[in-house]
Amino acid sequence: MKIGQDIVKNLGMGTWYLGEGNNIRSDQEINALQYGINRGINVIDTAEMYGDGAAEQLVGRAITQYDRSSLFLISKFYPWHADKDNMKASLTASLQRLGTDYLDLYLLHWPGDTPIEETLSALHGLQQDGLIKQFGVSNFDVRDLNAASANHYFEDISANEILYNVATRGTEYDLLPYHRTHNIATIAYSPFGSGNGNEIQIPSIISQLAHDKKVTIHQLILSWILRQNNILAIPKASSVDHIQNNIDAMNIEWSPDELSIIDTAFPAPNHKEPLKVI
Ligand SMILES: NC(=O)c1ccc[n+]([C@@H]2O[C@H](COP(=O)([O-])OP(=O)(O)OC[C@H]3O[C@@H](n4cnc5c(N)ncnc54)[C@H](OP(=O)(O)O)[C@@H]3O)[C@@H](O)[C@H]2O)c1
Repeated sequence: MKIGQDIVKNLGMGTWYLGEGNNIRSDQEINALQYGINRGINVIDTAEMYGDGAAEQLVGRAITQYDRSSLFLISKFYPWHADKDNMKASLTASLQRLGTDYLDLYLLHWPGDTPIEETLSALHGLQQDGLIKQFGVSNFDVRDLNAASANHYFEDISANEILYNVATRGTEYDLLPYHRTHNIATIAYSPFGSGNGNEIQIPSIISQLAHDKKVTIHQLILSWILRQNNILAIPKASSVDHIQNNIDAMNIEWSPDELSIIDTAFPAPNHKEPLKVI
């Protein structure tokens, strides 16, 4: 994938809802991010939206002690900041909160009203200025990518960050193949179906599989994504234990029989489904 040469592993760290608690919680979250970085997880995904900048600020605090070139920082701007001037202002603020002078990847958070030509041209300008290394989109379905495909800078779209997990497989029908054809990296968000009680409902056959493989359910469903080594998964974890569990999930192997248990519980799509978003 286009961002592959910069990414050591296909596991990154999400940051939605980080930096929104008290000092003790923030310290724990910083500790968790640093624990991940120290173990080679160098991709951090954030956005101007998360906590109105609080997540970027927390990431900025977490990364001060590291060599910037060893990290791969992703941030995203609102669709209503997708024109040249607003985008520049958003990026400047994100860089300031992160305490850095460039992003590795800058994404349009979801499709909006600004013509995509204008957005891609503005992103290209930021890239030319050295403020972002690469750019891409998020929550774009095939239709949205097709609409952008006539643009001169379409070929420069490095990644599409989308909802993808064991229970949300609609993208396997057409979007993931489209990404492969056009050399667009897939970044899978909410690999656990997000947090706060809206996690994936796990049938007993899957719990049993996790038990048999001596892994947790979270590890099982994360590793199901990680086994597809052309997809970058970005779970959010706010404790050292969860980060370690997620790192350990990178070593879980799958047999064809085990994969078919997943397919029975969560069938692959056999027709087009509109892209789901969180
Ligand atoms: N582009 C977009 O539109 C978009 C949308 C949604 C998300 N995202 C990105 O994707 C990231 C991940 O998605 P998400 O935050 O929605 O949800 P998620 O990663 O699917 O789930 C996060 C939840 O899983 C828990 N968790 C993490 N590791 C665990 C483990 N090993 N065992 C048990 N529980 C574990 C976390 O708990 P703790 O916090 O207690 O560790 C949290 O409650 C976001 O943080 C954000 O960076 C992007």
